[in-house]
Amino acid sequence: MALFSKANDGKLEQLVCVTGAGGFIGSWVVRELLLRGYRVRGTARDPGDSRNAHLHELEGAKEKLSLLRADLMDPESLRAAFRGCHGVFHVASPVSNDPQDLMPVAVDGTRNVMSVAAAEGVRRVVFTSSYGAAHMDPNRSPDDILDEACWSDYDFCARTGNWYCCAKMMAEMTAKEEATRLGLELAVVVPCVTTGPMLQKDINASNNQIGRYLMGTKRAYPNAVASYVDVRDVARAHVLAYETPGAAGRYLCAGVVLHRAQLLGMLKDLFPQYPVTAKCEDDCNPRARPYKFSNQRLKDLGLEFTPLEKSLYETVICMQKKGHLPVIAKQQLRANL
Ligand SMILES: NC(=O)c1ccc[n+]([C@@H]2O[C@H](COP(=O)([O-])OP(=O)(O)OC[C@H]3O[C@@H](n4cnc5c(N)ncnc54)[C@H](OP(=O)(O)O)[C@@H]3O)[C@@H](O)[C@H]2O)c1
Repeated sequence: MALFSKANDGKLEQLVCVTGAGGFIGSWVVRELLLRGYRVRGTARDPGDSRNAHLHELEGAKEKLSLLRADLMDPESLRAAFRGCHGVFHVASPVSNDPQDLMPVAVDGTRNVMSVAAAEGVRRVVFTSSYGAAHMDPNRSPDDILDEACWSDYDFCARTGNWYCCAKMMAEMTAKEEATRLGLELAVVVPCVTTGPMLQKDINASNNQIGRYLMGTKRAYPNAVASYVDVRDVARAHVLAYETPGAAGRYLCAGVVLHRAQLLGMLKDLFPQYPVTAKCEDDCNPRARPYKFSNQRLKDLGLEFTPLEKSLYETVICMQKKGHLPVIAKQQLRANL
């Protein structure tokens, strides 16, 4: 099968595959690729499920998107999905903290993706890692800069039960080793906590956290800092890392670092009518200090980061529209005062 087909205007359209196409980040990556004129093959474990129906509504989907059934643990299914593709965006991964499910799928699944990609003649892979693979190091001082050179401390993550971070570390290392061994070009996007409007109908884990804070169902917040980025920036980062000649290695995809109290203050300012979580789990110790970080590598590729306020605002409006949050009018707050 040809890697390229001719579009009407004579432009060459590349065929690429996105694993986990129906998920939060995967859907935005598919959208970005379609808008840029790629022919896209998306994988899902159950492509016919209504959870993936939104993909067919994307601009250009009718002409340029096909969905295939693939499971990361089933190399034969990946083979069919990658056949004829120039590039693979390996986005799929369980987003949970259950070590039984996580480790094999994240690590062996990534090994399967890399070896099938190489066998099928794929040239370039973009792997979706997580800042969970980079920032969890208790010995990094707040004065150190979080950047692409940073790795989480595996033993610390395992000791503290952060299996998601362990899995993402191991998966990213596997992608890197296999790319070197098999001669595949690899770029790695390392997104931080990702917010923003959802294309899919079901709520994903990172936006669910925002919803729980907004509704106050999370009774207290930790004395901790985290880094945030908008999902549209994450999708653009994937495509820039794919398209930029010579782009290789890690790209930390971080827009801002905030203490949780600052994040919740932002939510309260935007949506004062909601009972936003206001209590800290740890009032006794000094407030954790935000650390410095560098997103220069992505800026150098041309990425501009969306302000978190805009991202949070659109996340909440989207969750209201999709029925994940009750709509509370500002007047209701005044009436209750
Ligand atoms: N959201 C964040 O804050 C964040 C931050 C950093 C990194 N990431 C990374 O970004 C990627 C996407 O996360 P997300 O937030 O978009 O989560 P999501 O909406 O839950 O998407 C996860 C995707 O992984 C797929 N998947 C899970 N197990 C699979 C398996 N055995 N075989 C094939 N596909 C499988 C799911 O596909 P099905 O449709 O088949 O269920 C789903 O499409 C993950 O690699 C995650 O680690 C996310």
